[in-house]
Amino acid sequence: MERTSLMIVALLVSLSVVAVKAEDPYVFYEWNVTYGTISPLGVPQQAILINGQFPGPRINCTSNNNIVVNVFNHLDEPLLFTWNGIQQRKNSWQDGTPGTMCPIMPGTNFTYRFQVKDQIGSFFYFPTTDLHRAAGGFGPINIHSRNLIPIPFARPAPSDEYDVFVGDWYNKGYKSLKKILDEGRTFGRPDGIHINGKSLKVGDKDAQPLFTVEAGKTYRYRFCNAGLRTSVNVRFQGHPMKLVEIEGSHTVQNVYESLDLHVGQCASVLVTADQEAKDYYLVASSRFLKNEKFSTVAIIRYANGKGPASSDLPAPPPENTQGIAWSMNQFRSYRWNLTASAARPNPQGSYHYGKINITRTLKIVNTRSQVDGKLRFSLNGISHANAETPFKLAEYFGVGEKVFKYDLMSDEPSNTDKVTVVPNIKNATFRNFVEIIFENHEKTIQSYHLDGYAFFAVAVEPGTWNPEKRKNYNLVDAISRHTVQVYPNSWTAIMTTLDNSGMWNLRSDMWERYYLGQQLYISVLSPARSLRDEYNIPDTNPLCGIVKGMPMPKPYTA
Ligand SMILES: *[C@@H]1O[C@H](CO)[C@@H](O)[C@H](O)[C@H]1NC(C)=O
Ligand SMILES: *[C@@H]1O[C@H](CO)[C@@H](O)[C@H](O)[C@H]1NC(C)=O
Ligand SMILES: *[C@@H]1O[C@H](CO)[C@@H](O)[C@H](O)[C@H]1NC(C)=O
Ligand SMILES: *[C@@H]1O[C@H](CO)[C@@H](O)[C@H](O)[C@H]1NC(C)=O
Ligand SMILES: *[C@@H]1O[C@H](CO)[C@@H](O)[C@H](O)[C@H]1NC(C)=O
Ligand SMILES: *[C@@H]1O[C@H](CO)[C@@H](O)[C@H](O)[C@H]1NC(C)=O
Repeated sequence: MERTSLMIVALLVSLSVVAVKAEDPYVFYEWNVTYGTISPLGVPQQAILINGQFPGPRINCTSNNNIVVNVFNHLDEPLLFTWNGIQQRKNSWQDGTPGTMCPIMPGTNFTYRFQVKDQIGSFFYFPTTDLHRAAGGFGPINIHSRNLIPIPFARPAPSDEYDVFVGDWYNKGYKSLKKILDEGRTFGRPDGIHINGKSLKVGDKDAQPLFTVEAGKTYRYRFCNAGLRTSVNVRFQGHPMKLVEIEGSHTVQNVYESLDLHVGQCASVLVTADQEAKDYYLVASSRFLKNEKFSTVAIIRYANGKGPASSDLPAPPPENTQGIAWSMNQFRSYRWNLTASAARPNPQGSYHYGKINITRTLKIVNTRSQVDGKLRFSLNGISHANAETPFKLAEYFGVGEKVFKYDLMSDEPSNTDKVTVVPNIKNATFRNFVEIIFENHEKTIQSYHLDGYAFFAVAVEPGTWNPEKRKNYNLVDAISRHTVQVYPNSWTAIMTTLDNSGMWNLRSDMWERYYLGQQLYISVLSPARSLRDEYNIPDTNPLCGIVKGMPMPKPYTA
């Protein structure tokens, strides 16, 4: 009944809108976010479920669809979701980071509304508040190409598509993990790896298949690593993977025996069920964890197949120095398919990104240190702290200076070891073409994500960066994506055009680092203050902190 009335409302909304102008179709979801008990590694613990599910329900849509998600917060803590990789053009109002929105308070609901403008591919959502991501609350966002747009693999293949989350897991529960971080300590190594919330061992007798396939058919697997800190390698027994897409870009279709997925990354592959009909294992194993290895399996079953999977698993790639070289080479083998038609992110000039002059370079070095006896992580000497008033709202209401100062972090690393804990907000110029270098002097792998944009990941190299290194950039067919790794004692370069007005989070995807300050916000304001460049704040967005009760600023006009 609820559902039906919802659908009718949906229909009426879209009809009335269609009457005005042909608008893109709407997709509606209603989410009840609750606590529940799950046991990804066999140990029961409190988790965050959406409509009773972990991983959460799939958002399934097509390029340019309007997505409406009515979120009911039944937790006992404020909550926000972000839409990892969805660019939210002109609309950081819906980005769901604590720097852009007031949280959804317990016992209340909030309706996110956004458009998946000019995007295709595999993404995911997750909660940004507190340490909620350690408890779940994540799920897939699949954006299909519109019917008329050719895709670079034959239709009707793939026969079906499967969403697969891999990632590390901690048995402690998010409240205990948060307490450890709040006390100034690290929460250390994970307890294992899961695949879609389960962790089977080879030979488990009553194991149920994760997916069932039909002989001769081809399937699309959309993998995402939504873990907290561990890179994961995925591989199928006896079945190579044809890579077709990474985070919204159709790739050159190389074939891989195994793929590294760093935290926050997604990739989709085609796998054909062309082997003897029986069970096969999908293997997920940890990468680059010192002195420790975790792995788990899931069963892919051929319908009408005979017999269990062999216990002979495909070997993992090498570890240590050799393993890093292996992984870097794999990164360099990823190429954007320049002839595939698809909705292209950042259409302005992005196609020939190698010919655009760089207007600003940010070189960012991460550090781990103690501040007042507590563990903090920082970028160029600034360890970010959130404020009660979201920075975007403070800026919009004209009271930014009461909450934060712009540009406390410089564009170059500081040469002192001093770390300051303050909001880290960079002021950027609208439409600048920027180069960001992440230089990692630590022994652990890093992973960074930028909201509001796709960027070109042009280089991943060992050692330290200098301007000469630009000669080695891939300025032709680098993947346009949203998350990139930085290997130990290495650097990574990305490029993007800051053509999306708003306040955007640039963050470490290593969740204890994110929580303890390894992130910042980039404020990109169009001088025009016009609806052409940024939407108005929706009237439904809650207000909090010092902007609560303030008179609304004059709305933007055309
Ligand atoms: C959410 O919970 C409400 C109240 O318990 C229920 O009526 C509704 O059907 C639920 N919605 C979904 C999508 O599960
Ligand atoms: C997902 O969306 C695509 C295209 O919009 C559609 O073809 C497919 O049937 C949908 N799948 C599900 C499970 O809703
Ligand atoms: C809360 O949910 C109700 C019922 O679906 C809906 O009418 C209302 O608009 C929602 N409130 C917000 C702030 O999204
Ligand atoms: C790139 O996409 C085109 C167009 O769909 C396709 O024909 C071609 O095979 C793809 N190229 C590679 C190298 O994957
Ligand atoms: C880029 O910079 C070079 C050298 O400063 C200049 O000659 C060229 O015109 C610039 N190109 C563009 C597209 O602005
Ligand atoms: C931010 O940068 C813009 C454009 O470069 C400049 O006009 C503006 O004054 C700067 N704002 C602050 C607060 O630094």
